[in-house]
Amino acid sequence: MEIKEITLNELDTEKFISEKGQEISSLVGEGLSINALSGGVDSAVVTMLCHRALGDRLKTYFIDTGLMREKEPEHIVSLFKDMGVPVELIDAQKTFFDALKGQTDPEKKREAITRSFYKDVFGKLVRDTGARYLLQGTNFTDIEETVAGIKRQHNILEQLGIDPEQSYGYRVIEPLIQLRKSAIRKLGKSLGLPEELYNRPPFPGPALAARVIGEVTPERVKLVRNATTIVEEELSQSKAFQYLAILHEDRVTGIRDGKRDYGFQIEIRCWESTDAKIGSPTRLSYDILDRLAERITTEVPGVVSVTYNITKKPPSTIEAI
Ligand code: XMP
Repeated sequence: MEIKEITLNELDTEKFISEKGQEISSLVGEGLSINALSGGVDSAVVTMLCHRALGDRLKTYFIDTGLMREKEPEHIVSLFKDMGVPVELIDAQKTFFDALKGQTDPEKKREAITRSFYKDVFGKLVRDTGARYLLQGTNFTDIEETVAGIKRQHNILEQLGIDPEQSYGYRVIEPLIQLRKSAIRKLGKSLGLPEELYNRPPFPGPALAARVIGEVTPERVKLVRNATTIVEEELSQSKAFQYLAILHEDRVTGIRDGKRDYGFQIEIRCWESTDAKIGSPTRLSYDILDRLAERITTEVPGVVSVTYNITKKPPSTIEAI
């Protein structure tokens, strides 16, 4: 099916909220639908849009995959609770780490995450609740990149030839599919989300697994999580589109306390972009880079090397896997 983009300029948010709301409401009918909130802009917007349209015909879950940033699950659940949207936290860490065990190939890792989300976790939630629809925040760029064969975005099903009804027993509704990130932010603002949510840097559905090169284990996620906290603290004032820390697979020789330390490498990326389709590295000051290297090598155990990516997208991509 051909999907037509609604550009930032074309988007009339009030009209979109009312028309999409009616469309979703009549599709879902009297049945129950579910959605997963990850804390990213897209899923936050879908949650609010659909909560307004469906009220208690929508049940929202936050799936704790074990791949999230520090304190993210509790923080996001409490932000939505304050806005009157109940969100249930589901601990699915074991499901995800079991599926990722031994996987080193990027596409296989994405596939394992897709399967864990859609088959294992949502499949069970659908069976337990009797829901018939899953609402999710797939956006226009996700579709383009998957169709172009660049990356298998974890949330793209139809374009990968997966029929969710046949494979998992529920239908998927994607209300944001015609919008890119900037238009989704504008919609989030109109929906009354706090700026912290609609203006936050994008965060991928596969979460920190998209930032671990090689096998994704609880220990390796913890390492990249600690580095991510530092990068976000230091770069939140940068106004960049997105900034992240990546854990490399190879270790390198370093020195600690006068002795050889064969340690980990963290790569920092910080992007200027408007829609994630193309991007260029932010020209961060050397003082900032220096502080990042200092903090990461002293506060994250085992890290002996910190690098900064200076490559544009393309040929780089924003995330590492
Ligand atoms: P890439 O790495 O493809 O990222 O240049 C483009 C934008 O999309 C985000 N991203 C994802 N988001 N599921 C998502 O929901 C995914 O599988 C995924 N992979 C990348 C990324 O953070 C960037 O903003």
